[in-house]
Amino acid sequence: MPKISIYPADKVGDVPEGMSILDASEKLGIEIRHDCGGFATCSTCRILVVGGVENLSEVDLDEENMLEEAELPAPFRLSCQAIINGDVELQIPEPEMQWSKGALRELDALPVLSRAIIRVIVEARARVTGESVILPDTAIPAVAKAKEEVEALSGDKAALSAFIKQICELPGRE
Ligand code: FES
Repeated sequence: MPKISIYPADKVGDVPEGMSILDASEKLGIEIRHDCGGFATCSTCRILVVGGVENLSEVDLDEENMLEEAELPAPFRLSCQAIINGDVELQIPEPEMQWSKGALRELDALPVLSRAIIRVIVEARARVTGESVILPDTAIPAVAKAKEEVEALSGDKAALSAFIKQICELPGRE
């Protein structure tokens, strides 16, 4: 049976092959938000895949459309759609932090592919310093730094996944 590991809760367990991430998480006692009931129309069940992406089902058209609309590039998946075929490591993303309009402009210039990842990085670091809203003064250097880091790792998927995992484990969660 495939083994799944879910962070930051640090839950590890064996689940039947062919089960969705959403159902498998529930089996391990972790409730992932799923507002549309698992029909790939809301994106609230988003999850970051930090290991074993090759052990998940391919992204189908419905999931691809929803991920695109929500600007959630790989390594994000919809947990209601991704089927487990082997060992995977998953990270439940942080609840979204508020960005001021000026701060959001810093993200506008970024390619869609890296925008979501950079958001996760900037928000996780802001939580460490106790910020509840991202303002331009914070966003300008923080986005630039995260962009540099992501670009440096863009050719190495494993290193990028490890980096995201490390960022998501920073202290300061609510
Ligand atoms: S629960 Fe809505 S997209 Fe997965």
